[in-house]
Amino acid sequence: MDKLVIEGGRRLEGTVEISGAKNSSLPILAATVLSKEKSIIRNVPQVADVFTMVKILKSLGAKVLHTGNTVEVDPSGIRNPVLTYKIVSTMRGSICFLGPLLARFRSAQISFPGGCVIGPRPIDLHIKGVKALGADITLEHGYVLAKTKELKGTRIYLGGAFGSSVLGTGNVMMAATMAKGKTVIVNAACEPEVVDLGNFLKKMGAKISGLGSPSIEIEGVKKLSGANYSIIPDRIEAGTYMIAAAITKGDVTIKNFDLSLLGAMLDKMRDAGVSITEKNGHVRVRREKKLKPISVTTLPYPGYPTDLQAQMMALMCVVPGISVITEKIYPERFMHVSELNRMGASIILEGPSAIVSGNKKLSGAPVMASDLRASAGLVVAGLVAEGTTEISRIYHLDRGYENLVAKLQHLGAKIRREKDLR
Ligand code: EPU
Repeated sequence: MDKLVIEGGRRLEGTVEISGAKNSSLPILAATVLSKEKSIIRNVPQVADVFTMVKILKSLGAKVLHTGNTVEVDPSGIRNPVLTYKIVSTMRGSICFLGPLLARFRSAQISFPGGCVIGPRPIDLHIKGVKALGADITLEHGYVLAKTKELKGTRIYLGGAFGSSVLGTGNVMMAATMAKGKTVIVNAACEPEVVDLGNFLKKMGAKISGLGSPSIEIEGVKKLSGANYSIIPDRIEAGTYMIAAAITKGDVTIKNFDLSLLGAMLDKMRDAGVSITEKNGHVRVRREKKLKPISVTTLPYPGYPTDLQAQMMALMCVVPGISVITEKIYPERFMHVSELNRMGASIILEGPSAIVSGNKKLSGAPVMASDLRASAGLVVAGLVAEGTTEISRIYHLDRGYENLVAKLQHLGAKIRREKDLR
């Protein structure tokens, strides 16, 4: 296992290029199996979750050519729509094969994904959606068994206690592309990654309208073709570098990035006093003045993203005053709190809220990564902490950040990857 070693206190300066969005790439790679024809997906980040997705496609019988940031999928040879526990247990995103396999093969057998360290991860909305389209679903021996004679379009309300579902919307949208008649998804997720998936499906020949709004309409077609598509930039990666720039009093330009992808994140950064400007499609992030504490509540898009909660908490740790960070998507997603406190932060948890008493300083310490975004929060904290921070279990970071160490080194951070011999 590897660890990251960060010597804090370096100001980040320069430019950084953002990779393609992991959370678009996963459902889009799954969507390629909707057709018998070859698809070519570009700007796919080289991260562990994508490698897992490629393994799943191959295990299904697809031919996959993965070179750099391009993945070519020839799904013509898929015969057996079964995803076993061994392959699904490493990545929850594999549930997004349910819709496409069901649409193309009229049956799918997928190991139940279970929970993870950020809290329970139910799939009731995915199941509700495909059932409404006419699938028979049984849960047996840890598997979701789905089959249907024919999927039929209908109106589906897709909301739960925590609002809309990103992959749930994606799954139902994919299943509906070849259903008979019209499907309307009400309370659909509006996340840019759902729009990206929808745009890919449209390139395959699907008839979809309302993307980016809470009401998506899909008119079923008989078949879909392969498509050539490029993934949008990763807004969570961009947001992470923006926060890293702010915490190190830096001056960082994010190349070719559309600020509108950030939703409420942009407002919250500006409320805190971070300067963010856009010129010719490049975004410059500077911290020129004292920052102010803020209150942040995570919400579905365009609300503040849960995937940037830990990073923002790290920033607020060094802003004097009280900040309150409330998690409305995953109320248990606070594994980073104890680790930030090990670094000298003062954070207490009150139910789904973290109350951060900002200090001026964090101090480097050995800490442990627990999930992808918690790990990103610890990296951001380590960049400003006095002394050395050692982050172990960084395989979590490998799931979602392409070339993190090289990109941060390029910006001037003192960070390296080492074998963890403990
Ligand atoms: N939920 C249900 N029932 C369901 C599905 C979800 O109650 O059937 C609940 C969840 O427990 C949560 C809320 O609804 O409280 C939203 O979950 P959602 O379904 O939107 O999450 P997801 O689609 O499984 C994606 C991202 C996550 C990101 C969330 C929220 C991918 C592969 N994953 O998950 O990304 O946090 O949306 O924006 O797209 C990450 O990248 O680190 C990550 C965890």
